[in-house]
Amino acid sequence: MVAEKMYELGTKKSTIRTIFEFGRKRAAEVGEENIFDFSLGNPNVPTPEFVKQAVVDILSEMEPSAIHGYTIAPGNPEVREILAKSINERFGTQFSGKNLFLTAGAAAAITISFKALCEAGDEFIAFAPFFPEYRCFVESVGGKLVVVPPQPKDFQIDFGAFGKCVTPHTKAVIVNSPNNPSGAVYSEETIRELASVLQAKEKEYGHPIFIISDEPYREIAFEGYTVPYVTKYYANTLVCYSYSKSFSLPGERIGYIVVPDEIADFGRVYGAIAGAARVLTHVNAPSLWQLVIARCAGRPSDIRTYVKNGRLLYQGLIDAGFECVKPQGAFYLFPKALEPDDYAFCERAKKYDLLLVPGTDFGCPGYFRVAYCIKTETIERSLPLFKKLAAEYR
Ligand SMILES: Cc1ncc(COP(=O)(O)O)c(C=O)c1O
Repeated sequence: MVAEKMYELGTKKSTIRTIFEFGRKRAAEVGEENIFDFSLGNPNVPTPEFVKQAVVDILSEMEPSAIHGYTIAPGNPEVREILAKSINERFGTQFSGKNLFLTAGAAAAITISFKALCEAGDEFIAFAPFFPEYRCFVESVGGKLVVVPPQPKDFQIDFGAFGKCVTPHTKAVIVNSPNNPSGAVYSEETIRELASVLQAKEKEYGHPIFIISDEPYREIAFEGYTVPYVTKYYANTLVCYSYSKSFSLPGERIGYIVVPDEIADFGRVYGAIAGAARVLTHVNAPSLWQLVIARCAGRPSDIRTYVKNGRLLYQGLIDAGFECVKPQGAFYLFPKALEPDDYAFCERAKKYDLLLVPGTDFGCPGYFRVAYCIKTETIERSLPLFKKLAAEYR
């Protein structure tokens, strides 16, 4: 009667959703302030004042039909020119408006990219730990997700393991840096090596292999870490960007795909992106927010809270006896669980009202994710509880 797969996707509760609901229930029992909810990647830093001002200015200066009307599917041409110029200024690239396709955030950007590229039998590679939605997005377009095992010492790429996953069926490799959930930023060396492996494989197989660079956390990179702009290292790259995290706008749904001129057959790739967007009912990215991001292009993200929270939590976890890679960006830590079964570990943490997400959900059993985009004071009060939890394992 209905599509079984869709029913399953729509009704099966995700672990994060289940944890969230548990948190709501406990909050009603013991009070909001006694729940330490580290489960959600919802930015707690307020949307910058300049974004609010841009909204107010646009609403008072422009004609309603120019604000709220349809735009062409790739997005307002002037907006795309402004954004391309801003990317060029910051990263030394040479894009123009025609290289951009505006989308409803990164989720839409990556799904459109998967659909645009996927042909029967195609494989898409992700590096564990990875954003769990990749699996559902890739499978929804008929592709197969191939997972490269993690390199836990630093969560960079294990190139030995990666080499074994690339086959003539590989259509694209998904890169997410700064990473959800590990907080790692891929170094320039990692990106160079990835590019060199893929260039050799493209030659061997005689067809392009794309990198899909999923970059909603690009702006959230800590001091000493730069996020290489992947198109400068590898021509067959699609960049998927979003303002959900950088400007704390996750509910507004705005982002873009960059398709560089150098990509194999620009016209066909851009055309397929437009086609994929069309069948996925894109129509156009939210019109008001297209105008807002154009006015805010190049403005900085406020990452001070994330820097402070990351340092505090990292040190607290290390002091409590956890093993954890130092945060380099985004707003997540991905420590090792204190028992092999990460579900059992996260269940035990609930005793202290610490809400953590098992690593298995990210393709990495034995670990857990802590999202620290929450109040600093909550993190401070959680540290003795992490200590108590760790003491149970001694
Ligand atoms: C790695 C990663 N990619 C994509 C997304 C989706 O972001 P958006 O809100 O821009 O769709 C998220 C959201 O948490 C994410 O963590």
